[in-house]
Amino acid sequence: MTIPGDETADFLQDAAAAGVFPGGPDTRLETYRRAIAAGKAAPFTSGELAHAARLAWRNSARCIGRLHWRSLRVRDRRDVADPKAIFQELCLHLTESTNGGAIRPTMTVFAPATPTQASPRILNHQLAAYAGYRSGGTLLGDPKNAAFTETAIRLGWRPPATQTAFDLLPWIIQGAGEAPQLFTPDTGLIQEVPISHPTLGWFAELGLRWYAVPVICDMVLHAAETEFPAAPFGGWYMGTEIGARNLADADRYNQLPVIARRMGLDTKTPAALWKDRALVELNTAVLHSYQAAGVRIVDHHTASAEFMRFNEQELRAGRETSAAWDWIVPPMSGAATPVFHLPMRDLQLRPNLLPRPEPA
Ligand code: ARG
Repeated sequence: MTIPGDETADFLQDAAAAGVFPGGPDTRLETYRRAIAAGKAAPFTSGELAHAARLAWRNSARCIGRLHWRSLRVRDRRDVADPKAIFQELCLHLTESTNGGAIRPTMTVFAPATPTQASPRILNHQLAAYAGYRSGGTLLGDPKNAAFTETAIRLGWRPPATQTAFDLLPWIIQGAGEAPQLFTPDTGLIQEVPISHPTLGWFAELGLRWYAVPVICDMVLHAAETEFPAAPFGGWYMGTEIGARNLADADRYNQLPVIARRMGLDTKTPAALWKDRALVELNTAVLHSYQAAGVRIVDHHTASAEFMRFNEQELRAGRETSAAWDWIVPPMSGAATPVFHLPMRDLQLRPNLLPRPEPA
């Protein structure tokens, strides 16, 4: 393994500037170099790990919510590797992060992977997700999770007797080098929000719902030459993630034609803008429902304005913001938000959170 010392050095300089440890980073850097050269994980203190995780968020080119990077709560659980214990920690993570609706951005960091030791893994894409049941040519639920649903069933998961489009999936946790195990969180642990509309009374009859907190499990925390494949994290939603993608995409819940018909629109004529009008009402419903349920959510205009502030903060700190335009620009009303007009480059910085390669 090579030691691109610059990255590690940058991280330590940054940590020192943030007051993570007293004194200069030089001796600390030497300690890091020695550990990494010996094929060990970087010897983060809990404070350094928390700082590295916050920098990983700050460097996440696809995230519009990074104004809040300093507020990330980091649960250092590097000593936890047993699947049962991981399960219990994930339950605590959800409760602490959901916080009764006042969502707190949170990451739990489990044991890292080293050249000699595999790490545990949480095979779910997110802790909360809805089953997708394929049968014949039709699909009930979230198509995105069809393959995972089949894996869970193969491992022994029994779907509810009456299957719905919104059945929460179990968790699949794999100890280092062990067979995957199924765990089912208690009902109620995952808070959900039924979707209704402030003025369209029929909207609630669609029976749509979504969960309060996305907790991503399949991204790897990369920091100081060390990989943490089990480092689940999440914060509050931006409304369009649900209203303009999860419930709207034709290959997800595909609700725009349903909503447009209930609105009495002519769905034969694209130029009638029925998709656009349905999108506005669906997104109005999502924001309204989360607010009514007391679950924190941000609309895409506010989130875009916050991203512009984040960008200004970064410029003032002498840093270019690393950002992926196609991910930052919201999936509706793009040009009506200021981020549309901001040039962006993905600088591939470290620390970072990057997709985990598919498990074999
Ligand atoms: N887009 C993903 C979803 O709809 C969640 C990604 C993380 N989003 C967040 N607001 N923290 O489930």
